[in-house]
Amino acid sequence: MKNWILFLGTAVVVFLLALLALNIFDRRNEAKFAYQPKVQLEGIEPRDSVWGENYPRQYQSYMKTKDTTFVSMINTGGTNDMLESNPEFVILWAGYAFSKDYNSPRGHAYAIDDIHQTLRTGAPMQPGDGVMPSTCWTCKSPDVPRLMSEIGVTEFYSSKFSDFGSEIINPIGCADCHNPETMKLTITRPALIEAFEAMGKNIDEASHQEMRSLVCAQCHVEYYFDKKKPDAEGANYLTFPWKDGMDVDNVEKYYDNIQFADWVNPLSKTPMLKAQHPDYEIYSQGV
Ligand code: HEC
Ligand code: HEC
Repeated sequence: MKNWILFLGTAVVVFLLALLALNIFDRRNEAKFAYQPKVQLEGIEPRDSVWGENYPRQYQSYMKTKDTTFVSMINTGGTNDMLESNPEFVILWAGYAFSKDYNSPRGHAYAIDDIHQTLRTGAPMQPGDGVMPSTCWTCKSPDVPRLMSEIGVTEFYSSKFSDFGSEIINPIGCADCHNPETMKLTITRPALIEAFEAMGKNIDEASHQEMRSLVCAQCHVEYYFDKKKPDAEGANYLTFPWKDGMDVDNVEKYYDNIQFADWVNPLSKTPMLKAQHPDYEIYSQGV
């Protein structure tokens, strides 16, 4: 009786071990097929369609940012003329480009289309024309890190908006957030790396969890253009006001110290701050 129990017990264990081994073998084989790179990503590849060859599922889900049928609580999704629905903004932003034209934000896939269409850039007709600096492109496209690596960061910030129209053509994409070799999250915008340095921190030490929001903070963030940066004369150098800390009080202190205002409202004569991306900032303040 004892021997029989031992024998049957061993048989069951051997059977279960065989199942486990088979399962491991299967998963290994699946892993081989699940990721078979079809193309080699060279340098900074700004075209999502090329990344999409290797990552078809993520590509398809990213392309859903084209969907404009959904309108969220903070009014993003469809194109909504915010000046028409909130005429008081025209007064609030008097003297500032947002009073000329301001549509609610759309998905990432529209970043280039929408900056082409906005009146805020002053519709320059040819390279060298217009009022806006090249820095305005920074949060629009993976062609930006590509161009920065080709011509240099300070040079990038030293041109006119109209100078790069033929270079910056792909909307926000994979190369803005991913290292093509490891697919790890990566920071591609110097302003965020420099803001960490200004706080005495090293962004390379950010945790995986922090990186998941830091990739967004490259663009969805309060910033200003530093026109007096040493070694960057003539540049509109993109800078985050974080030297004294990242919270609102410290940011305000920082701006007070350098006596900076985004613009002075000509009606109220009030120096105005924190007006970039008013969609996020105004709504987050519950106005
Ligand atoms: C390279 C700059 C950049 C990065 C990185 C970035 N965004 Fe955006 N995001 C934008 C711009 C520019 C728009 C507005 C595009 C438009 O209106 O055409 C936008 C729009 C949005 C919108 C509104 C669009 C809608 O359809 O509701 C959401 C939400 C959003 N981003 C979330 C995120 C999140 C989450 C991350 C990080 C995972 C992120 N963004 C990273 C630049 C960026
Ligand atoms: C605005 C930043 C941003 C952009 C643009 C972006 N990703 Fe991601 N991606 C992320 C984040 C954040 C994660 C989640 C990482 C985590 O949680 O570990 C992620 C995860 C992934 C993963 C890991 C597997 C998974 O599904 O979780 C793959 C593969 C990937 N992305 C591919 C792409 C491709 C391909 C594109 C372009 C079509 C793209 N990503 C565009 C931020 C981005």
